[in-house]
Amino acid sequence: MEVTGLAKRGDGRHAGFPGPVRAVVPSAAPPGPSRPSAERTAMTDVPGRILILIKPDAVKRRLIGEILRRIEAKGYDIIALDRLRATPELLAEHYAEHVDRPFYPSIVEYMTSGPLVAAIVEGHRVVEGLRSLIGATEPTTAVPGTIRGDLGRDWGTSAMENLVHGSDSPESAEREIAIWFPRFAR
Ligand code: RTP
Ligand code: MG
Repeated sequence: MEVTGLAKRGDGRHAGFPGPVRAVVPSAAPPGPSRPSAERTAMTDVPGRILILIKPDAVKRRLIGEILRRIEAKGYDIIALDRLRATPELLAEHYAEHVDRPFYPSIVEYMTSGPLVAAIVEGHRVVEGLRSLIGATEPTTAVPGTIRGDLGRDWGTSAMENLVHGSDSPESAEREIAIWFPRFAR
């Protein structure tokens, strides 16, 4: 049976589509010799994941709710949530690409300055969607309408205090999820 365009695109919440796609697709599309259903499911129907950090400046400013609200309002699912204090060891893994940069000690100082909130957010093309919603690194010039553009500014630390982290690719997301939420690692 052919999967409809609506079912391929949807995550169960489009009007007229009653249930989660992942539960429906395998039985609706039995494996065929030329194109196994598992391949089709992996390429079209499995939602993506991203690791989000609501950084210590945002927690101090009581913006946890506002940031999560924006993520949910765009339609994504928050599937794991934790409030914790980052350790230098955790940050060295998370920011491995930055450890040799001159500003890395400032990142550690900032990211250990108070509790943060880590989340896994799920949805189709969620990395693109949330990088766009978060906005540019520099909060002063991040476009209005984005989280950093609306809620952030330079507090004398240039681009450092920018409220939120979001993984920059699906591969980074899986690497970072394994660091912050080992039980969700794939
Ligand atoms: P993130 O990884 O936190 O989502 O941010 P990003 O991709 O937009 O920016 P990235 O280049 O990965 O930088 C990581 C974090 O380091 C701090 N930073 N400060 N003072 C500076 O010029 C500077 N540059 C980067 C920011 O906190 C940035 O989010
Ligand atoms: Mg980054």
